[in-house]
Amino acid sequence: MRIGTSSLRCEDCGQSFPELHAHDNCDACGGLVNLEHTFEDSTADTLRERFAARAGDALACGAIASGVWRYRELVLPSVDLVDVVSHPEGSTPLLSRESVTRWAGADDLRLKHEGHNPTGSFKDRGMTVAMTQARRGGAAAVACASTGNTSASLASYAAHAGIPAVVFVPSGQVATGKLAQTLAYGARTLVVPGNFDACLALARACAAQLDMRLLNSVNAFRVEGQKTIIFELLQQLDWQAPDWIALPAGNLGNTAAVGKALREAHALGLITRVPRIAAVQAAGASPFAQSFAGDFATRTSVTPDTVATAIRIGAPASWARAVRAIRETNGVVLAVTDAELLEAKAVIDASGVGCEPASAASVAGIRALRASGVIGAGERVVAVLTGSMLKDPDIMLKYHTAGETPRANRPIEIDGTVAAVARAIRGAEQRL
Ligand code: F0G
Repeated sequence: MRIGTSSLRCEDCGQSFPELHAHDNCDACGGLVNLEHTFEDSTADTLRERFAARAGDALACGAIASGVWRYRELVLPSVDLVDVVSHPEGSTPLLSRESVTRWAGADDLRLKHEGHNPTGSFKDRGMTVAMTQARRGGAAAVACASTGNTSASLASYAAHAGIPAVVFVPSGQVATGKLAQTLAYGARTLVVPGNFDACLALARACAAQLDMRLLNSVNAFRVEGQKTIIFELLQQLDWQAPDWIALPAGNLGNTAAVGKALREAHALGLITRVPRIAAVQAAGASPFAQSFAGDFATRTSVTPDTVATAIRIGAPASWARAVRAIRETNGVVLAVTDAELLEAKAVIDASGVGCEPASAASVAGIRALRASGVIGAGERVVAVLTGSMLKDPDIMLKYHTAGETPRANRPIEIDGTVAAVARAIRGAEQRL
């Protein structure tokens, strides 16, 4: 059963374009274009049944096993699975760890771990859709600006699709794991002086003048894929919406995608009430949180500085979409310090789950919102962990080996005798 059609529509002036139109911005007014689907012949029950039946496909080979394409009616209804560029991706776990829940002060906390995606971050969900569409549209090359995860994901999916990839990364500000992945997957990697915002401006200029398709999260198809984090976690919760969904916020593509997913899930009747979004920024890169404090009266930009390099962004691109997401969900935006997010990371890591620094901002944010009473007792919260702990080994080693950090687990040099081992493990029995 074919469910509806899709077209691109400018969010500012309403102009429509065919689905394969290859511009992120409206030709008439320059606004961003969104993908809109019509869901004519679908009901919540038929969709839920179909998604449930497909959950078993996770063991199959190829796109049919994808936790993104499981929701294809809500992502890109026109696609034929044989045209899809998929590893597959998605089907990530929804975890619960007592030590993390306790530290956050929450009563019911789940961790949606997007670090389990093939390149180690949530970016793969949007990338499978954007790369599929780029190939359907005959793109000669694909490009992105990135703090590292998008570039790793783009490089991997471009290699899979057989399309040349160009990435723009900020000099000296990309975590080791991400840079290594990007190089190894084979993308032409351009290191730009300045921060992510400078990279994105250059990438946009190049996409306008050179023959390359920009696959940053302003790309409408990236948004469609990233929505599936939400569809999947709702399905994992048997379509009982949580009270809150917390996520780290940088360029705001994910905040926008979460808002669109919740809007559509509610409109379709998949959920009967809408969770509140908590978008969490690093204090040194918090233009969105600052603007939220003034009811979004002004669009703020800052010179970003944080140890969480993934979200070291001062002028987020998906601003208007994210404002809509926060307003529609009665959401909140807040900032946490580097010390807070690093402590949250240490707690998540020590629970055996692990995540990268930016991802831990979501749990640090939940702790702050519980302490201030914004998140109430008994409320169910889902934190999205956006990336794998292996992305940024340097931060972890520094945390555990250098300086005074509250939860450091220092390595112990020994002289290779049993007596030295006995001495070294004294007092650690409870942990062994
Ligand atoms: N968490 C991680 C691990 C990220 O890599 C990013 C963004 C975010 C959160 C924030 O998501 O930008 O949609 O608000 N990384 C981008 C990149 C900027 O280039 O990989 P956002």
